[in-house]
Amino acid sequence: MTALLMAIHILAALIWVGGMFFAHMFLRPAALTLPTEQRVDLWFGVLSRFFPWVWGVIVALPLSGYGLLLTAFAGQKGTSHSVQIMQLLGWTMILIFVFLYVAFYRNMAQRVRKRLIPEAGLYLNRIRILVSVNLILGITTVLVAASGRYG
Ligand code: HEM
Repeated sequence: MTALLMAIHILAALIWVGGMFFAHMFLRPAALTLPTEQRVDLWFGVLSRFFPWVWGVIVALPLSGYGLLLTAFAGQKGTSHSVQIMQLLGWTMILIFVFLYVAFYRNMAQRVRKRLIPEAGLYLNRIRILVSVNLILGITTVLVAASGRYG
């Protein structure tokens, strides 16, 4: 059970942080060379495929994390600093994602469907900023989580 919970936890973190890293580091610079309309369409195509996975991830991460705390580590790891920081950063990331989805992504999708491209681009830019924040938080979380036992 512990191995399964840990596998789910790590896979979820990998998909989320890896996806944001790829988008920010590789896709964004490449897409910047495109004309605005194509760039917005490309990002809509990417985000509309990535975000359903992120919804799955934000359910799987806390469930598997608290599953680990309740079973394998039953109490003792709950007080360790690295797990406390992981929870704080994890919930912050989740709130940021839910906010950017509700406040920006849904508006962007609406504008893309109505072909209001410049407005959609404004929302895309706001999404990019919050995804960058989450990428930094995500990398920090993984570093804290993985190095906690050595500290
Ligand atoms: C939201 C609540 C979360 C809880 C309750 C939680 C809980 C846990 C627990 C109990 C462990 C095992 C600790 C250990 O082996 O010392 C763990 C490991 C881990 N967590 Fe989380 N976690 C959460 C969120 C996150 C997030 C958001 C990420 C990354 C984006 C993350 C990444 C990791 C990684 C990479 C490990 C493996 C550390 C290792 O064993 O090397 N966790 N988590």
